[in-house]
Formats: sequence, structure tokens, C-alpha cells
Amino acid sequence: MEIYKLQQLLSEMSLQEKIGQMVQLTGAYFDKDAVLTGVVGEQLPPEWIIRYAGSVLGVIGKEKIYDIQSKYMEQHPHHIPLIFMADVIHGCRTIFPIPLGQACSFHPELVSEAASIAASEASSEGLKATFSPMIDVSRDPRWGRMMESFGEDPYMNGIMGKAMVDGYQQKSDQGVAACLKHFAGYGAVNAGREYNDVEISQRTFLEQYVKPFCMALKAKPAMVMTAFHAIDRKPISGNKKLLRELLRDKEGFDGTVISDWGSIGQLVEQGVAADMEEAAVQAAEAGVDIDMMSPAYMFWLEKLVENGKIPESFIDESAFRVLIMKNQLGLFENPFAGLGKSEKLTPYHRAKAYELTSESCVLLKNEKILPLCQKQRVIWAGPYVTSKEFLSRWSIFGEHEAVETIEDILQKKQIKAECIPGCRMLSDEECKIWQVEPERFDEPGNERWLETITGDDTVVCVLGEHESQSGEAASRAFLTLPEEQQLFFERIAKRTRNIVTVVITGRPLDLRRISEKSRAVIMAWRPGTMGAEAVVDIVYGRTNPSGKLAVSIPWCVGQVPVSYWDIKTGHIYDADHPENRFSSRYMDIPNTPLYPFGFGLSYTEFNISDIEVQAGPDKRVHVHCKVSNTGKVAGAEVVQCYYETLCSSVVRPRKELVRFQRVFLEPGEKKTVDFSIDREEFSYYDENMEIVCSQMKLRISIGNSSDHEWGNSVIFV
Ligand code: NOJ
Repeated sequence: MEIYKLQQLLSEMSLQEKIGQMVQLTGAYFDKDAVLTGVVGEQLPPEWIIRYAGSVLGVIGKEKIYDIQSKYMEQHPHHIPLIFMADVIHGCRTIFPIPLGQACSFHPELVSEAASIAASEASSEGLKATFSPMIDVSRDPRWGRMMESFGEDPYMNGIMGKAMVDGYQQKSDQGVAACLKHFAGYGAVNAGREYNDVEISQRTFLEQYVKPFCMALKAKPAMVMTAFHAIDRKPISGNKKLLRELLRDKEGFDGTVISDWGSIGQLVEQGVAADMEEAAVQAAEAGVDIDMMSPAYMFWLEKLVENGKIPESFIDESAFRVLIMKNQLGLFENPFAGLGKSEKLTPYHRAKAYELTSESCVLLKNEKILPLCQKQRVIWAGPYVTSKEFLSRWSIFGEHEAVETIEDILQKKQIKAECIPGCRMLSDEECKIWQVEPERFDEPGNERWLETITGDDTVVCVLGEHESQSGEAASRAFLTLPEEQQLFFERIAKRTRNIVTVVITGRPLDLRRISEKSRAVIMAWRPGTMGAEAVVDIVYGRTNPSGKLAVSIPWCVGQVPVSYWDIKTGHIYDADHPENRFSSRYMDIPNTPLYPFGFGLSYTEFNISDIEVQAGPDKRVHVHCKVSNTGKVAGAEVVQCYYETLCSSVVRPRKELVRFQRVFLEPGEKKTVDFSIDREEFSYYDENMEIVCSQMKLRISIGNSSDHEWGNSVIFV
């Protein structure tokens, strides 16, 4: 519809109709099977809101949505369509690895393709907007939502966020609106505790946590979601400075701002609004266009406009933005756009999920044991061997029936192996307590089976967290494997050294003991629908692992948050002089994580050479190098370019990722990698919070992990 017609429509709408566009209701008011992703209050919405609400969340299904949409539009005075939204986080029906795993592929093009598949499956079942991608930089694995992010690095979150937005939105009538979330800083919740406050400097906030949003906004996402926490003690959903001044005026975002679930109402609980009326005023003044599931807008906006406490122009602006979004999705021409246009879980979708899962697995250790030979005696052990629990709490529309188990795959590929789960998975209830009493998991049968293992046998242990141990409201204080699994592993380790451990998890875990006693470790994250096949193929060498960590694996929980980009200290710890007590260190454990950001092994070897770094007259830095595969099998290496600012007026990080390129090479093959980086990308805030983007002395390095450089150069730009 032309924009003038949309304006015309707005001018004809009543105040209640316009406010309706600014209210999002959970599908529970429209469909009894709707998925609830938050708490529904006891107070029922006013009757007119159910008739005029502009959007619905958590309902999916072709027939259901056809039915709700038809009835709604018929009774609506202007026949404005609803828009159906939901959390399609890492796939809709075909489930890809969790975003944290996807980031480990260092392959934004594939991540984008996965998002477009998710969009077509979602759209086909009636969803036209997803609350994804989440690009909250996250460095504390105690926080359960780390699985939804692209890890600890701002640049990585920005690149992957942009790729996902492109993937979701690019497909004409099968595309869905994307939503960058949570603007901003949610990943820095104190002590990794869900919904906690955030205490962060303005500089770190802007340079590290807002940066990915600035990058991903370039893909023009339809929406941005606020967050539950406060920045500098001002909750985001009522924060005019952040939403109007920073996001809209400075960063130029002209799409729709949606609150996180109930967060406008929570301004009262946070003590910054005396009541719901004041909460509604603050959110409207901050420019929140849609109130997701709080009583504030639906009960108060109308009165506030009538009393002149907020201008009607605020309502017009917000309602218009929602109409524009619907228009861009083609809903005015066809309120059922995309419905029934795509099949779910097609062979192509599965093939792409397999590809992305394979690339997201990170080989952390390999003492000449992998790949295994199909002919040797191998025992696959652990609860994940016969389980379909490869999805996550954020794959709400994922289908476990579509997942094959490792045992199924081994049989299908006719690989001779014994499969023994050996111990239980935690129950939902057990996930909520820090220690499960051992008598609950001692099963006499175990011992007999264990006794058949000899030192010559190879055991692949597939261990990990429960699906519900990560995601929203899933913070953990300990990062260990369930104790039952840890003990099970120890028993196996007493009988053989030939252990390969595959870890299924939504976050980095404390893998110290597992890593010590395994000859190989594969981090498979929560791998999705095609998880089992991807893992089996890596173990037997049909796939050469190529994933690199998008987040550090801590040595133990006492180290977190730990990341490669630590701010420099004057008391540098020198590993060659451990006797120096007065250095920034722990007395009892190393400073460095068990496995650092950017790290990941392959079945082949690579060499990086011919590194050249030049500051061009075009105000760009040009980096050139060659990468070759010097081993015997084909594989992919990720060339990583970092920089360090030398001599600045404020202390800066030791290293920051500025470019990466995944390169596939046949044995003996050599390829050139070139990066061109705008000088502005190295800019930072000085002590007066002024941006510095010239006269910078930089050390540029090239490596294949944050802790391994192949070469570096110092330049001035
Ligand atoms: C709350 C979560 O924080 C947000 O990420 C999600 O999109 C909404 N609930 C809707 O489910």
C-alpha cells in the first residue's frame, strides 16, 4: 500500500484502534494451545483491546492463524490485519544449532541461510515476525541466555546479527520481520543471575554492548526489543535517553520498538514509576511502540491522551510504525502472506541444518585418537547416545520426533558400535537443585557393563546439560556436568584412556576434569535436529571439524566472566616468572581460560604466511595474508584479525577482533585472504567521552585463535 494511503488509514482510526496497534497480547487470548513465554497476570485485558490488539505472540499453525486472522479482520472497523510474532530463535521446525554454536562456525553466510529457512517455515505456519536475533554480548556462562547470543565478542555479535536479519527479512512474502534484542546490555547482568541489574561503565556499554546493535542495524531490522534491566539505574523500557536519543536519533533506527515481556509494567516493581499509569507515561515518552504483555498501555494510554498527559502524536507515531511494518510484510495486500508456502523439515532444510551443525562443533582436544576407524571396537556411552534431546528450551516449535538418536545414526550408517546410555538424564526437577543425592542415581546394572571395558577399548562419552538448564530463567551457579554423568565418566576413565567426549550444552561448562582424562573433546553445543548425524560424522572423520570458539571455556567458575579482550592491567602476569606474587592473577588457578576464544582444532594442519599490513591513503587498513592446508585432508581454517590500541588516553582491551574469514582448502591448496578495514572501526572513546578515530597507533595481528598469532605489525592511522 502506498504511504499516503497508510497515512489516510491512520487518520481514520479511532484512538482505541490506534492504541490497539501498540498492544501485543499473548495468543492465550485467541487460542488455548498458544505457547506462553512469560507470566500472564490475573487482570484480564479490556474487551476492546482483544478486538483491536495489533499483534499476537506465541500462536503458530496454518489453520489456526487463518481462523484467528479472518475473524479478527472481519470485526475490525478498518479490517487491519494482525501480525503474529514468536520466538523463532534457532529454527522453526527444522532446528539449527543454538546461536552460540552457530557463531562458532564463523560462517555468517550459512547463518543467514539458516535464518531464511527458519523464516520460510515460520511464515508458512503464519508467523510474520520473530524475536531474533539476540545480540547481547555475553561473557558470563552462568547466565542461561548465553546460548541465544553469539558469544563474548561484540564484532561477532554484530556480524552474525546482521547476517540473521538479512536471512529472516530478505525473502519476499516468505520473509519475516526480525527483531534485534535486547537493547542493550542485558548480557552483562551482575553475577550472571537472570533478570539481575547491570552495573557497567558508559564506555564499556557503548563500545562493547551497543556496538553489535550499531552494526546489525545496517540490515534494517523491522524491530528492536528493549530489555528488563536498567542502565545506570534507569530501566530500558522507560529510558528516553537510550531509546529516543541513542537508538533513534543517533543510530537512525526508524522501525518499531517493542518492550520485552511485561517490562513496562515492571517499571513499578523496579521502583521508578509510582503506578501503572506512570509506567505507561515513561514508556510512551521513551518511544516504546508496542507494549508486550503488561497492563500499562491497554489500561492507561487512552486516559492519558484524554487528560492531555501524553500527546496523541505519540500514539500516532507508534501506531504508524506498526502499520508500516505490516505494510512492508505485505499484510495489507495479503493478510495470509506466506501461509502454506513452504514445507517443514524438507531434505534441503535438514541438509543445511546438518551443514551448520557440523561447522559449529569445536574440536577442543585431540591426542591422536580422532577420527575413529569404523572397524575398531567402539562403545558409545552416556545418556545422549539414545536421546533425542538435542534441541533447546528456545526451540519452542521444534519437533523432537524429527530428531534421530546417535544410536539410530550408527545403525543407519552400519557402523559397528555398542550403545550404552549407562546413566540417566537429569529430570526437570533435578535441574533446579545444586546437588542430586547419589542414591538417586546408583544403578547396580552399570557396574557389570563397565567391567567389560578394557584399556584397549575406545569409549565415546556423550554427556551434557539437560535442555532446560539453559535459556531464559536458567542461570546456574555451578558450571559442572550433572554429578551422575561426571561419576559415570570417572568410572570409565578408570578402565581406559581412550575416551572421546562429546559435550552437549547450552553454555561453556567446567570441563577441566573431562578434558584431562579424555584424549579428545568435541564441543557440540545444543546441536539441533541434525545433531546426531553431524557428531557421528565428525567422530568417524566423514567431516573435518572446523568450528572455533565464539566464547572462552573457563578453567572453572571462579574465573568468570573471562574473555580474550580483558582490559590491560599494570600488573601483568608473566608466565615465565610465576614467583612474582604482585601480578594480576589467581594464586590457585591460571588466568587463562581452559580454551580461549577463536580456538578450535582440525584433522588437517594449516599455515598462515605472507602477512602484510598497510595503512592506506584511503584511511583504511589493508591486511593481506596467505593460508594453506599443509595436511592430508580437506578442511576449513578461520583466519582471524585482531587489533590492539597502543598508547591511548584511556586503558583499552588487550585485543579486539576486527575481521575474520573462513577459508576452505583442499590438501596442498593455498588461498589469499585480504581484509580492508575502515579507520573508524578502530575508534574509541577518550577520557572525555569524545570519539578518537585518528592518530591511532595500532598493533594488528593475524592468527587462528585469540591466543595464537602468526604475525603482527604496528601501524599509525
Ligand atoms: C522474554 C524474553 O526476554 C524475550 O527475549 C522474548 O522474546 C519474550 N519473552 C517473548 O517470548
